[in-house]
Amino acid sequence: MLIRPRRNRRSATIRGLVRENRLHPAQLIQPLFLLSGQRQRTEVASLPGTFRFSTDTLLREIESCLAIGLRSFVLFPAVPDQHKDQTATYSYQDDNFYLQAARAIKAEFPDCCLISDVAMDPYSIDGHDGLVGQGRILNDESLPILGRMAVAQAAAGFDILGPSDMMDGRVGHLREALDTAGFTETGIMSYTAKYASAFYGPFRAALDSAPRADVNIPKDKKSYQMDPANAAEALREAALDTAEGADFLMVKPALNYLDIIALLKNNSTLPIAAYHVSGECAMLLAACQNGWLDYEQAMPETLLSIHRAGADVILTYFAKDFAQRVHDGRLEI
Ligand code: PBG
Repeated sequence: MLIRPRRNRRSATIRGLVRENRLHPAQLIQPLFLLSGQRQRTEVASLPGTFRFSTDTLLREIESCLAIGLRSFVLFPAVPDQHKDQTATYSYQDDNFYLQAARAIKAEFPDCCLISDVAMDPYSIDGHDGLVGQGRILNDESLPILGRMAVAQAAAGFDILGPSDMMDGRVGHLREALDTAGFTETGIMSYTAKYASAFYGPFRAALDSAPRADVNIPKDKKSYQMDPANAAEALREAALDTAEGADFLMVKPALNYLDIIALLKNNSTLPIAAYHVSGECAMLLAACQNGWLDYEQAMPETLLSIHRAGADVILTYFAKDFAQRVHDGRLEI
């Protein structure tokens, strides 16, 4: 045999020399759930190890992440029912605890990258990402609400906004609203190919943000999130978001959509983000808790797979665990 691929796998050092992909903690974004009030820190039952924090405890959590080299965060609010209405007015009120928390975070940690969520569902009594009317999700009527939300978030200091609502034309609408308000430097990480997935369950439980059970309200998000059967459509969404001024294109979820990640990576020069969503993390944790998988191996392998498929940036509930292991020298990258 002249050719023996195993020669390049002989030692840890040689494997390190020929390693094609390396995932660095600088490429990870930690999702964080925010509660109102103080001194709160409650675990999400369906996502063990992930907590919902009030602003005071969240600041300490962010401090501990920064200390191990994890510097980017995406923040989601769990909004008390009394603040929810049909038009999500609380989302752009100045005393909104989500906006206040962003101010506190950027005041204490100006160098961190703070990413928002732009969608109506946490603030909507209907639990949809857009405005509900006549039993449908109204597209164009949702845009001004999302625009106000976005400008309020930029004013509060978010570095990058994350429209996760999947309304048509929202990236362009947000870009224009931001520029008009003088926030030309605030970026947009667009949820470009966001699928109507079954894997958002633990997230909706953490925020109590699932679509409301009512005959007049669509019970799923299939009229705006993408059909899991489609791939070419992701390219159309990518072309639109790019033309409308997006700074990042995101694919969500990640693992069942590695082909979509690769497709966008090969067809765009924008950075590609992938959201390794709550249900994907929950599956792995459940198997590990049963002793069926080894977390120390399965977790980094999973994140590396998403990176290898073409994701430059990964949003994952395992970001802190990954960064911690790299920081401690327990995980070689
Ligand atoms: C809603 C939003 C969702 C997630 C992020 N933003 C849920 C949904 O679309 O219903 C899911 C993230 C996760 O499951 O980790 N705008």
